[in-house]
Amino acid sequence: MRKKKLIVGISGASGAVYGISMLKILKKLDIESHLVVTKAGKLSIEYETEYKLDDVIEMADHYYNNNDISARIASGSFLNDGMVIAPCTVKTISEIATGCTQSLISRAADVALKDRRKLILLFRETPLHLGHINSIKTVTEMGAIVMPAVTTFYNKPKSIDDMVTHTIARILDVLNIENNMIDRWEGL
Ligand SMILES: Cc1cc2nc3c(=O)[nH]c(=O)nc-3n(C[C@H](O)[C@H](O)[C@H](O)COP(=O)(O)O)c2cc1C
Repeated sequence: MRKKKLIVGISGASGAVYGISMLKILKKLDIESHLVVTKAGKLSIEYETEYKLDDVIEMADHYYNNNDISARIASGSFLNDGMVIAPCTVKTISEIATGCTQSLISRAADVALKDRRKLILLFRETPLHLGHINSIKTVTEMGAIVMPAVTTFYNKPKSIDDMVTHTIARILDVLNIENNMIDRWEGL
């Protein structure tokens, strides 16, 4: 059986730490990661975290330049187990919603939808206007799963890392990837 492969996109919304955490966890789970980062994603990585883009590239098994529209993840013939964009901006979700995919990240997402693979968008913006809501509705109708980057408190997080890990674990749950990273709700 081939190794599981996931495409990870990091776009320029606040919360680059989500994508970084995803890469670290995929490594632990021995899942092959294929990373693409937007120009604004690089800004957000370097502004919000202790990492440079090169450090994050090192965490992935494969990296693609967002301008390289000829990269293999731009084709449905690249077999993989889904794509996660964490965090996902309004701009990137809007490109996916319109199908006007001007960069590798949105093209790869479009391909995930057309080939009926899982596409998870960790959308982050607030408050929302109707255009944002319409994009969320459209991509959902097309098969994407929008998971707003909202944290939980019922798990009594003690750190930002706890909050981020919980969100990533829930993404893995949606992808049917077994993980024991969180305490699961057992009732009161
Ligand atoms: C510090 C910072 C934080 C940002 N946070 C968000 C955000 O949370 N959500 C969002 O949609 N855009 C956010 N933006 C704006 C996007 O980065 C901008 O729209 C960019 O063009 C998105 O491009 P991309 O989707 O190719 O990454 C932020 C920008 C900066 C500089």
